[in-house]
Amino acid sequence: MKKDSKKSLNEETIRKSVRDFYTDIATGKKKARVNSDDLNKALGYSKEQLQEVPEEANMGLGCGNPHEKAKPVEGERVLDLGCGKGFDVFIAAKSVGKTGYVIGVDSSIDMVEKARLIGKKRKFDNVNFRLGEIEYLPVADNSMDIVISNCVINLSTQKEQVYREIFRVLKPGGRIGISDITQAKPLPQSVLDNPRMYGT
Ligand SMILES: C[S@@+](CC[C@H](N)C(=O)[O-])C[C@H]1O[C@@H](n2cnc3c(N)ncnc32)[C@H](O)[C@@H]1O
Repeated sequence: MKKDSKKSLNEETIRKSVRDFYTDIATGKKKARVNSDDLNKALGYSKEQLQEVPEEANMGLGCGNPHEKAKPVEGERVLDLGCGKGFDVFIAAKSVGKTGYVIGVDSSIDMVEKARLIGKKRKFDNVNFRLGEIEYLPVADNSMDIVISNCVINLSTQKEQVYREIFRVLKPGGRIGISDITQAKPLPQSVLDNPRMYGT
């Protein structure tokens, strides 16, 4: 493996590839690869959390349990970055109760529309799903108690910008719960050059 491997693709190509990848999952064109209930148990979700979440929101796309660190409680305002069909939004909505509020942001309109439909059907009145990019959050300054995210920031081509946005929207003393994957060693050039590898 060459030490000086570099991304040959521009940011827009990568963003489009990621968007297309998750649009195909949202619309059912592409299937999630694992039994998602087994995966979520292995990732540390409790039986109660898995019982509370509408099963159609559970795509098995997470890589940890962001609630473990952030521990949302009654009355808090929570923001989920890259919410998909709302898996962690619905879990947080149960934790914060009727006096709290949870916002989910996702760049795929198909994910957002599906999450809204699930929320409406299951009568969640303390959730709100917004189309947007985590690099430019459609959320007011100093408005959230907690920001969570599950396996999304690794997909961003502008990770520092994502963290600037997290700190902009958090209230002073706010909390962050992020589950994600990190890169332990350089990726082969063949991976960096393949747009399809950026969503997986
Ligand atoms: C691996 S999935 C995780 C979905 C969700 N967190 C879950 O655990 O079910 C990644 C999600 O992030 C969204 N996404 C990817 N890049 C994004 C970006 N730059 N801004 C907002 N959403 C993004 C995708 O559309 C997809 O729904």
